This record gives sequence, structure tokens and C-alpha cells, in this order.
Amino acid sequence: MKVAVVGATGMVGEVMLKVLSERNFPVTELLLVASERSVGKKLSYKDKEYTIIGLADAVAAKPEIAIFSAGGDTSLEWAPKFTEAGTTVIDNSSAWRMDPTKKLVVPEINASELTKEDKIIANPNCSTIQLVMALAPLHEKYKMKRVVISTYQSVSGTGVKAVRQLENEMAGVQGEMAYPYPINRNALPHCDVFLENGYTKEEMKLAREPQKILDDRSFSISATAVRIPTAGGHSESVNIEFNNDFDLNDVRGLLNETSGVTVQDNPDTNTYPMPIYAHDKDEVFVGRIRRDESQRNTLNMWIVADNLRKGAATNAVQIAEYLVENHLV
Ligand SMILES: NC(=O)c1ccc[n+]([C@@H]2O[C@H](COP(=O)([O-])OP(=O)(O)OC[C@H]3O[C@@H](n4cnc5c(N)ncnc54)[C@H](OP(=O)(O)O)[C@@H]3O)[C@@H](O)[C@H]2O)c1
Repeated sequence: MKVAVVGATGMVGEVMLKVLSERNFPVTELLLVASERSVGKKLSYKDKEYTIIGLADAVAAKPEIAIFSAGGDTSLEWAPKFTEAGTTVIDNSSAWRMDPTKKLVVPEINASELTKEDKIIANPNCSTIQLVMALAPLHEKYKMKRVVISTYQSVSGTGVKAVRQLENEMAGVQGEMAYPYPINRNALPHCDVFLENGYTKEEMKLAREPQKILDDRSFSISATAVRIPTAGGHSESVNIEFNNDFDLNDVRGLLNETSGVTVQDNPDTNTYPMPIYAHDKDEVFVGRIRRDESQRNTLNMWIVADNLRKGAATNAVQIAEYLVENHLV
């Protein structure tokens, strides 16, 4: 495969190259693409050095697959130009996710919907991916009615600039701000931009994307998204009301059997998921599984995953693998 990685110099782009290499994706030619600011810079992949090129040169090279992690505006403008050149685009931005003509894919759940006609495929939001990975098997068995979620999101979810802001603040150095306030020793109830309804865009992604991925609008989700000074992954406190009653051991069993999900749940040994241990791992970790004693058929749990891996790069590479294995590119 001739593969273009668009946004190769970014937070997700760096992990994308690592994941492509680790999983031995069949790359025969690699195009590393970023903004004009980075054109001419060098990056290495599998011990070989590559020169960053611009988007127009990448389109002209007609890659079979282009994996975009370069923001929504870049995707809106450039993904169609790649598809005109015959490329299949897998996009990490929010640009195409809710477009009814585009598929929103978590491979473990709905890759089978993909066909040769899907030329722009959307990767869900990082906090959505880890959420639906844990919700999908439970929804199938017990049918969700309503989900209430509060997130504790890593600065790596905002990109290079935000990680630098945290590092600068920790070192007591003045620098460029990615957030409107300090993030070190703080918690910002503000991820992405505010919308007219008082929610942030991140909160509305969490409310809408799971319905599309699970192809079911019969349940509702309410979210509060919070940025905290961690770097290894996103955490989520999730309260789920089901239509049907459940057995806690069955819930643990179902989650344990789900490919890509690992249960870490033992109060006796202080075992529960945490971002520093989820860092650099592909699994979605679930713990603190317990019955909500204030309401019937309701479950509480805690979900943690590395937002740059399963929340972005790993999910995108899994989509690319599915396309190759099923001769869809
Ligand atoms: N971070 C996460 O956990 C996460 C998870 C899921 C999805 N995403 C999405 O992935 C995308 C990248 O996020 P990130 O965290 O990696 O951000 P980032 O660290 O700020 O990196 C942005 C990347 O996009 C490139 N870029 C920016 N403007 C461009 C342009 N006009 N033309 C071509 N390339 C351009 C940058 O190139 P230069 O270095 O040349 O500026 C850089 O490679 C975003 O759309 C984000 O919403 C991020």
C-alpha cells in the first residue's frame, strides 16, 4: 500500500507512525505530510528517514490510503481532493463524523458496514471510542436507556501545544497557552468550544456519536467533559440506566470477553484503571463496576484508555487493516 499520513508531525501523527510500524501494516511507499511550516523537515519510520511534503504533492502521488490527523479544516478542504485521486481517506478529525453519507467506525463494533464505495471514513472522537467499546456489549444484552458521563481528559487530547503548556507550567516557564487558563493543578470544565446550548462540542460528540456507531437512537447520553493535567489517557465516570436488569458478574464476564476491553476491578487489591498505566496500550480498561444503589437497572463504571492509541491511531490503523484484508482498497 502507498500510504499518506497527513499530520505526521502532530501528537496523533507520531503515534500513527509507531502503530503502523508495530502492527507491520503493509506499507510499500510512505508519504509524510504536514503543513507548509513543516515541509522539508525530516521524520523517521522504521529506521528510514523521510522528508515531510505538502498536501498538493501528496495528492499528486495518488496514495491508496491517506490517514488524516490534521484538524477539521484540513480534512474538509483536502479529503475530497484525495478521493478524486482515487485515495481512501480515514479521518481523525470531527469534520465528517456526523455526515449521514459517511461511516463512523470502531472496527470491533461496525467495520462490517464498510464497502468499496466508502471513500472517506470517519474515526470517532477519542472519548467516544473508549466509551462505546465498553457500552456496546452491555447495550446488546441489557438495552441502554440513558447514559450520564463525566470525563477526565488528558492534555494530549488537545495536541502538541497543550502538552507544552502543561510542561511549561510544571517547569515554571512562561510560554504559549493552549487553554484560556492554567492547566497544571487545575481542572477545566471546558473541552473544545462552547455551543449555543451551553454544552461544549466535545460533550455533544459524546452525546451523538455513540448513537450513530451503534445505529440506535433509542438511548440518550448526557456528558460533562473536563480537562485535567494528565498526559497518558482519558478517564470516564459512566452511569448507565438499562431497560433490563443485569447481574454484576455477567457484566464483568461480558466486558472480559469483549475483544479490546480489559477489566481491572478488585477493590480488595486497589485494582482499577488509571491513565498512567493505560498509556501506550491499545486496550480499553474498565473498573469500579458497581450497581447504582439510587436507581433500578443502573450501573456505574470507570473507563480509561490511551486517547492517542485506541482513541485515535490504533482505531484508524485497524480500519486500514480491515480495508486491506477485505480488498476494499
Ligand atoms: N490528540 C488526540 O487525542 C486526538 C484524538 C482523536 C482525534 N484527534 C484529532 O486529530 C487531529 C490532530 O490532533 P493532534 O492532537 O495530533 O494535533 P497536533 O498535535 O496539534 O498536530 C496537528 C497536525 O496537523 C498538521 N496540520 C495543521 N494544520 C495543517 C494544514 N493546514 N495542512 C496540513 N497539515 C496541518 C500539523 O502540522 P505542522 O506540524 O506542520 O503544524 C500537525 O502535524 C485533530 O483533528 C484532532 O481533533 C486527536
